[in-house]
Amino acid sequence: MKLFSSVHDVPDIAALVKEALHLKQFPYAYKDLGENKTMALVFLNPSLRTRMSTQKAALNLGMNVMVLNMDKEGWALELRDNVIMNGNTVEHIREAAAVMGQYADIIGVRSFPGLKDRKEDYSEMIFNKFVQFCGVPVVSLESATRHPLQSLADLVTIEELKTRSKPKVVLTWAPHIKPLPQAVPNSFAEWMCRADVDFTITHPKGYELCSDFTQGAKITNNQDEALADADFIYVKNWSAYEPYGKILPGNEDWMLTNEKLKITNNAKIMHCLPVRRNLELSDEILDGESSIVVHEAANRVWAAQAVLKRMLESLS
Ligand code: CP
Repeated sequence: MKLFSSVHDVPDIAALVKEALHLKQFPYAYKDLGENKTMALVFLNPSLRTRMSTQKAALNLGMNVMVLNMDKEGWALELRDNVIMNGNTVEHIREAAAVMGQYADIIGVRSFPGLKDRKEDYSEMIFNKFVQFCGVPVVSLESATRHPLQSLADLVTIEELKTRSKPKVVLTWAPHIKPLPQAVPNSFAEWMCRADVDFTITHPKGYELCSDFTQGAKITNNQDEALADADFIYVKNWSAYEPYGKILPGNEDWMLTNEKLKITNNAKIMHCLPVRRNLELSDEILDGESSIVVHEAANRVWAAQAVLKRMLESLS
């Protein structure tokens, strides 16, 4: 595997999930695979889980790891071609990415969307330029439109904890005070649409996701209808795709409560984290028995390790 940017880079999802669960059982089984290999984790935006879980995954495989908080410690990057760099940008991504590729065998990149220009965000300009110019395998640590390491960990978690062969999985929109990217719900939807689950998306009118990511999903604006008999409920806020990056008024009653869970099949509650308590998800759910958010975050290590293992195997 030379690129991990979406579900489309994975020929056999079930095999990758199985590999992640195997690594969870035997974390150090491949501790020599990454010997003398270096992983660079490049962050243009903040992170807790992605940074620590991917670093741990690389260390478990015997790799050296370098972390660069590009947004705080790096030079301001120019992304456009054919410009006179007489403004605030100091270094062009052409040189920056090429130099990183000289220091690292695999590069991970996190780059959020600006949420101003949909065409630019959905072209994945920053992530794709890293891929184009660094010359080594690249793993997405969350890009403008997708978060595939999160989605793989989510699928691993569902596979591990499901109590029936084809569980009902629901992605529900939740309230927030800030416009958030569509990367996590887009990515979760496109992975679930290819997994062996019964998948429903529910959101208020106006929060339709780009249909490229939701082919095959049931979609409803009726949250109760969606939650009925659910085995897993994935809670997430996202801003509107149209008008792009906007929050629409109302919908505070979309926050999940224990009362709403009564119609589910004893559903387990998922969230990628970080989560704003009592805005996106209630205390009673996060502190209750139905929440598996920490378990889900722990599985980020095994998802990352399965992907890095495949990348290392492709280097040798
Ligand atoms: N879920 C997730 O990606 O968390 P971080 O933003 O903390 O990495």
